[in-house]
Amino acid sequence: MAVPVANGARPRLSITKGRRTVALRVTRLRRSVLIEIRRCTMDDYNAITAAMDEFWDDDRTLPLHHALLVHEFGDTAFVAAERDRVMAYLFGFLSQINAAGYVHLVAVRDGHRRRGLARKLYGRFAEVASARACQELKAIVIPENTASLAFHSALGFAGGVVPNYSGPGKDRFVLHKPL
Ligand SMILES: CC(C)(COP(=O)(O)OP(=O)(O)OC[C@H]1O[C@@H](n2cnc3c(N)ncnc32)[C@H](O)[C@@H]1OP(=O)(O)O)[C@@H](O)C(=O)NCCC(=O)NCCS
Repeated sequence: MAVPVANGARPRLSITKGRRTVALRVTRLRRSVLIEIRRCTMDDYNAITAAMDEFWDDDRTLPLHHALLVHEFGDTAFVAAERDRVMAYLFGFLSQINAAGYVHLVAVRDGHRRRGLARKLYGRFAEVASARACQELKAIVIPENTASLAFHSALGFAGGVVPNYSGPGKDRFVLHKPL
């Protein structure tokens, strides 16, 4: 899927012939920047894990990344790419315990947030989860991540803090959205 998201400016040009400078009127098709939502490749994965700072501000989530998310869960590993450069990604899988599509990781490059990229990735993931008979989407967020909580709330997720969800002292917001 390709989505036009931005336009460029019309160029101005001139040429010099002898001592005369001739202005050229240049008409060019407006430049559309196309965002493609597609499955993640290992090249994409390697580019993502080499740029953790740009996606997460630091590398704290690097241990949550694993190549098996592409090799074994590749049906639910998506990137939003602009001219083949990964701008955002979502790694998910389908729960074996509940009829749920679980979003394991989602991140957008700094400087490209609030363009609807994460929303589009969730949309693609929801399509796959629905087609596989899932009844809800599920995501986990640390209480300090107010941007992520606002994002999930905007998408219709609801839930609350579950004490020690990820181990002793590791409280997490556990969020659900019906499909
Ligand atoms: C959270 C994150 C994935 C959101 O991605 P995004 O592409 O910027 O989100 P979208 O543009 O699709 O936002 C959709 C809606 O969510 C809400 N939203 C998103 N980011 C928000 C923020 N920082 N503050 C308030 N609301 C926000 C808005 O309502 C937004 O719609 P609007 O821009 O029309 O107002 C992104 O901020 C990010 O990558 N953060 C760093 C990594 C991270 O924390 N990942 C989540 C781990 S659980």
